[in-house]
Amino acid sequence: MAASVFDLRRWLEKAEAIGQLKKAEGADLKLEVGAISELNSKRGGPAILFDNFEGYKAGFRVLTGSTLNSLTLGLTMGFEGHLDNLAVVDKVAEKLRAVEATANDYPVEFVTDGPIMENVVKEDDVDLTIFPVPVWHELDGGEFIGTGCWQIHQDPESGWTNVGTYRVQTLGKNVVGNYISPGHHGNIIRQKYWDRGEPCPVVMCFGAHPLFLLLGSSDVPAGVDELAWAGALAGNRVPVVKGPVTGLPIPADAEVVVEGYAYPNDQLTEGPLGEFTGYYAGGQTLEPVVRVKALYYRNDPILLASPVGRPPNDTSYQFSIMRSAAIKETLRKAGVPAVRGVWVSEAGGGRMFLATSITQKYAGHAGQAAAIACNCQAGGLMARYSIVVDDDIDPSNNDDLIWALSTRSDPQEDIDILRQCWSNPLDPMITDEDKARKRLWNSRAVINACIPFDRLARVAKTYKGEAFAPVAEATPDLLKETKEKWAHLFE
Ligand SMILES: Cc1cc2nc3c(=O)[nH]c(=O)nc-3n(C[C@H](O)[C@H](O)[C@H](O)COP(=O)(O)O)c2cc1C
Repeated sequence: MAASVFDLRRWLEKAEAIGQLKKAEGADLKLEVGAISELNSKRGGPAILFDNFEGYKAGFRVLTGSTLNSLTLGLTMGFEGHLDNLAVVDKVAEKLRAVEATANDYPVEFVTDGPIMENVVKEDDVDLTIFPVPVWHELDGGEFIGTGCWQIHQDPESGWTNVGTYRVQTLGKNVVGNYISPGHHGNIIRQKYWDRGEPCPVVMCFGAHPLFLLLGSSDVPAGVDELAWAGALAGNRVPVVKGPVTGLPIPADAEVVVEGYAYPNDQLTEGPLGEFTGYYAGGQTLEPVVRVKALYYRNDPILLASPVGRPPNDTSYQFSIMRSAAIKETLRKAGVPAVRGVWVSEAGGGRMFLATSITQKYAGHAGQAAAIACNCQAGGLMARYSIVVDDDIDPSNNDDLIWALSTRSDPQEDIDILRQCWSNPLDPMITDEDKARKRLWNSRAVINACIPFDRLARVAKTYKGEAFAPVAEATPDLLKETKEKWAHLFE
């Protein structure tokens, strides 16, 4: 049988063919795999497949760095080539738009069997410690089997299936901690079961094609079935086996999956974990656990991991791209015209520092774009700075951005502060006292670094005093001519 388009092993073959896969044998699970992955994320990939861990079965593998550049992200999403940041954002935005229109045609396809059922372990026989799970960072509170993982929850009222990436700590052979931030869909759905006094059924996937991770970690609105989106993106319905325990869908080509329940008031100590903000701010707290009732895995299973930490990290490139694309789409839907590009900085963890570039069309256009960008579903969580710049500025280029901020904004006029916005306990600026009082909000600065609209209308070709000063750089035509004529100086 031909391998499914959702088979991670097929993805690995393709990654190898384009020079985007390296292999590492015998690395130490305690810190070494984490440190290698950290170094690799700072240089933008390739993906690394780790094997042969001391004390574990050979062939039980760990993959990191799956989407650290445009080649591997493109391989995952279905496009090719080295592309710059804004071009990748545009490609992804285009795909998201197309997917939204067609997702209804790609519901999951129930099948009776699949590679994931090669090994089935039930109840007390479940032992998650057979899998090689790295200790990612020096101050981590244990082994996190789930970083590049994702979970399936089903809304008990509407039946909507949500896929979300929420970290998972191994706390015993058949029990795992599961931190889900307030406001995230898995948290909201779980609470609905608990409000009825029922346990919340869940499927957790610890290894699969990275497309599911990209969609599971994208802030898409409630009601979106990311499995149908994955199907629409791949042009193939996702084959799933009906979970024998929970009835939830289990992707047939996944590598490692568990089914279980999160019971009301069932909590254990979780964390800390080096987080995407670059800190261990979440600390160690009591968090809900999932009691694992069944484990399924392929022969020679591969855990897909995405260890975070001080950015750039394993996740920050895809976070920036996926979030930038989603915000750009949101601005379009909100009717904000002439958006050249959106970039959510990797350095801000792919959440906290947003820049939007626009061609100003009317007074107030700039403020409108920046305010929506940092408060919509895709851009709302933990945003701290939302900057709007003109269309001659590439928002993903820090020199461009700092030049615009330095020369086109007047702090006393151009910075507005929004208060009590959506944040969470991972925000290092929120104190323990505030966390205890559930004051889980932040403020955010909306900064207009566009040429003031009234002066833009009067920008002069030559400086006359009243218009905004012309930019002091050679025109593109002059630069092109000069480069051609003096080519030997610029090789
Ligand atoms: C590697 C990785 C780890 C993440 N860990 C968590 C986590 O532990 N808890 C959480 O709430 N969100 C986490 N996220 C972010 C969510 O996956 C993301 O915000 C997603 O949109 C949530 O899905 P939802 O909107 O359906 O709830 C993580 C994302 C990635 C890529």
